[in-house]
Amino acid sequence: MRDHLIIFDTTLRDGEQSPGASMTKEEKVRIARQLERMGVDVIEAGFPAASNGDFEAVKAVADTVKDSVVCGLARAIEADIGRAGEALRGANAARIHTFIATSPIHMKNKLRMSPEQVIEQAVKAIKWARQYTDNIEFSPEDAGRSEISFLCRVLEAVIDVGAKTVNIPDTVGYTMPDQFGQLIRTLRERIPNSDKVVFSVHCHNDLGLAVANSLSAVMNGARQVECTINGLGERAGNAALEEVVMAVRTRQDFFPCDTRIDTTHIVPASKLVSGVTGFPVQPNKAIVGANAFAHESGIHQDGVLKHRETYEIMRAEDVGWGTNKLLLGKHSGRNAFRSRLKELGIEFESEEVLNTMFMRFKDLADKKHEIFDEDLHALVSDEVQAPEEHYRLLSLIAHSETGEVPFARIVIAAENNELHAESEGSGPVDATYRAIEKILNSGAELQLFSVNNITSGTDAQGEVTVRLQRSGRIVNGHGADTDIVVASAKAYLSAFNKLYSKLERAHPQI
Ligand code: KIV
Ligand code: ZN
Repeated sequence: MRDHLIIFDTTLRDGEQSPGASMTKEEKVRIARQLERMGVDVIEAGFPAASNGDFEAVKAVADTVKDSVVCGLARAIEADIGRAGEALRGANAARIHTFIATSPIHMKNKLRMSPEQVIEQAVKAIKWARQYTDNIEFSPEDAGRSEISFLCRVLEAVIDVGAKTVNIPDTVGYTMPDQFGQLIRTLRERIPNSDKVVFSVHCHNDLGLAVANSLSAVMNGARQVECTINGLGERAGNAALEEVVMAVRTRQDFFPCDTRIDTTHIVPASKLVSGVTGFPVQPNKAIVGANAFAHESGIHQDGVLKHRETYEIMRAEDVGWGTNKLLLGKHSGRNAFRSRLKELGIEFESEEVLNTMFMRFKDLADKKHEIFDEDLHALVSDEVQAPEEHYRLLSLIAHSETGEVPFARIVIAAENNELHAESEGSGPVDATYRAIEKILNSGAELQLFSVNNITSGTDAQGEVTVRLQRSGRIVNGHGADTDIVVASAKAYLSAFNKLYSKLERAHPQI
């Protein structure tokens, strides 16, 4: 029997801590359902004490997900743990993940606590968490820069009072693979009650070593890896789930364990997370990048045609490439539409919303013959944001002609008013944004503008991501349409609406 390697996904918590990756409750639920379909063991859904929005999102995930454990993060503070326990009340299986920093630099400068006080607080945290669940995970934050003898003392103490998983975070991505693997081995050997817990790792990618460090830890006895889809996460991100899972699956001759992930759901999950957060996946990204299975050189193409394994160690279809089957077109009926959305994990609160969505689907199908799963996700993303919209695009004329100055005329609805503006610009998108700004006068800085085709072909929808920054607040907005100038206008308005929306939550510093 091979050991089970537990996959703990933190896309909805650490992933959401990437600046601009904030997700709404509905978006979190959609991603959580995809993670559940994929077979993720534990889904860390958020940090309930951070804000009411985060609390509601964790609660919604806990109430929805049935097959994965749902986890909430909490500082080692009674109030935080209480909020996590409450948010998780509806879960089939709940876990509380509590943490406190153990490195000298964090204890002295951030916590202003002595090592003895930190141990005492960690022990209290486990006892508070036990009022809600037995499934408790403890993390000594910044373990990668903590003193090993102190780590042993803290971990022994929390295991004694009931922690079931001890997670070793390389919070600042500082350690080297051999060193990190050795740390896990030493902790397992030196802590007297280490056999009572699962050792977990949580590696950040500041030096590009998050996956290597996680795998080195697995070779030294870690049996849970914390990771995120597309490696999303604080700063340079966390270990990428797809890379960890496929390394272990592909090299079963090397690793003594395997995960329960259904890898065919990986690419759809990657696309969903990228679409929701607006963080594009670089083409040469392992497993989920557009070029990950593309062979350019003649020698490689020839080799693959003669015998696939000459240049390929994995099969594209095994990680979910090519599964976006053509399913719907303009002749598809409402039931086919509803049941495909259901298969994608999308259900609506009322028939009315379904009807609106179906009308939007028909409009799209008139413009675009083939509707793929990604198109449906983009359609839903646009729609679920609609009720929060203060400003909505009513109409847009954008004119560009060789030798002429591009020009845009826009009408925006704001509550019961129609606001009109027009402008010239260096291109149709620039003219459109200038016209919008004449109305909004937002003072926001445009930090990112990116256009991606959702599917292939010239009739594909363009998905535009816009990142705006104002007074230190960063938000992403998305818009999708077969006309990329319209998609650009929608994305700008969606970002602007978020600047005012209560759904955008400021996370306290972790
Ligand atoms: O990076 C980190 O230390 C964390 C902890 C909360 C586990 O995210
Ligand atoms: Zn982290």
